[in-house]
Amino acid sequence: MEKTFVMVKPDGVSRGLIGRIVARFEEKGFAIVDAKLTQLDRQLAESHYEHLHSKPFFGELVDFITSGPVFAMVLEGKDAVQNARSIIGATNPTDAIAGTIRGDYATDVASNIIHGSDSYENAEREIGLYFH
Ligand code: TYD
Repeated sequence: MEKTFVMVKPDGVSRGLIGRIVARFEEKGFAIVDAKLTQLDRQLAESHYEHLHSKPFFGELVDFITSGPVFAMVLEGKDAVQNARSIIGATNPTDAIAGTIRGDYATDVASNIIHGSDSYENAEREIGLYFH
């Protein structure tokens, strides 16, 4: 079994989508092995997204992700990283197909409802950042 890190972003929390999002992962067969509602400080947000530091949208991304509580989870299942990304959908909601979380709930790449680790290595790193 593999673990991945998934986080409902501030827009998903403020829109009341935590329950529906958690249900999608449970229905798929994931086990929730840890979870918490938490508020990111800028230091954690900048560490999480350090690979995007040089991007023009980095400042807005950090402002957004620290703008309200997030719901962070560690999910476990077979091929958890890849299966979670499939449920989440494409980064840009314009490209995310209906039936995925971003495809069903988001219209804007800057506020795309949910984060999911994109590799096994990043899952390990992100779980360590949020749950230690
Ligand atoms: P990225 O790690 O590329 O995508 P994903 O979240 O699917 O792993 O980008 C991280 C977040 O940065 C993304 O979820 C939303 C934000 N972002 C923008 O605001 N504008 C952009 O053009 C891109 C590519 C990402």
